[in-house]
Amino acid sequence: MRKLAAGNWKMNGTAAALDEVRSLLAAHPAAGCEMLLCPPATLVAGMAAVAKGSALAVGGQDCHPKASGAHTGDISALMLKDAGASHVILGHSERRADHGETDALVRAKAEATLAAGLVAVVCIGETEAERDAGQTLAVIGGQLDGSLPAGATAANLVIAYEPVWAIGTGRTPTLAEIAEVHAFLRNRLRGLIGDAADGVRLLYGGSVKPSNAAEIFAVPHVDGALVGGASLKAADFGAIVAALSA
Ligand code: PGA
Repeated sequence: MRKLAAGNWKMNGTAAALDEVRSLLAAHPAAGCEMLLCPPATLVAGMAAVAKGSALAVGGQDCHPKASGAHTGDISALMLKDAGASHVILGHSERRADHGETDALVRAKAEATLAAGLVAVVCIGETEAERDAGQTLAVIGGQLDGSLPAGATAANLVIAYEPVWAIGTGRTPTLAEIAEVHAFLRNRLRGLIGDAADGVRLLYGGSVKPSNAAEIFAVPHVDGALVGGASLKAADFGAIVAALSA
């Protein structure tokens, strides 16, 4: 299994930010892991042009469950593919919170992503209140069951475990807590898609930085990271890529 360093730029970046991508590719022309950056939709085509022929894949941050139609302001997986994307992030906690996305909607979007021939990066994670109440495994197990697209394989599915309370806060679970969740997810996924589960990349996300990447990547069943803030700067994301490639 090739590890995956994925970056989520969220609602950050204009064309000038593509210089960070040029710097990243200059420093890491042949990374020892897969690299993926998911910029705002406005930058997908521009980033894909910069990344052409390189080891960097480009992805969207969301898509509509339909391929086209009367849905003002939305964007489809086919359109992202047309712009040069190979992946789509689905069900990020900010979409679940800001836009009321349910597991069923995330599943429909993920199925549209697979139908377009793209890789679905499905995000799940518990809130702090849920963790404090001892519900972490029940919550993420339910999210996995409910969000998993039909037809998922090791090639077209990536799961990102992102505790909501660790996103953008500088706080992370303990390594033991990450290990518990990732082992749980691997087992749960085996129950859902059988042996293919062993090839699905399970990413950890939430305040991953150059300073904590190596120890997180050493945790069993952590197959990479989904990185927010630290993916905006080539030096930081490059250091995380290097830690994963080591
Ligand atoms: P963060 O975000 O790395 O800034 O905590 C992670 C994410 O939301 O994917």
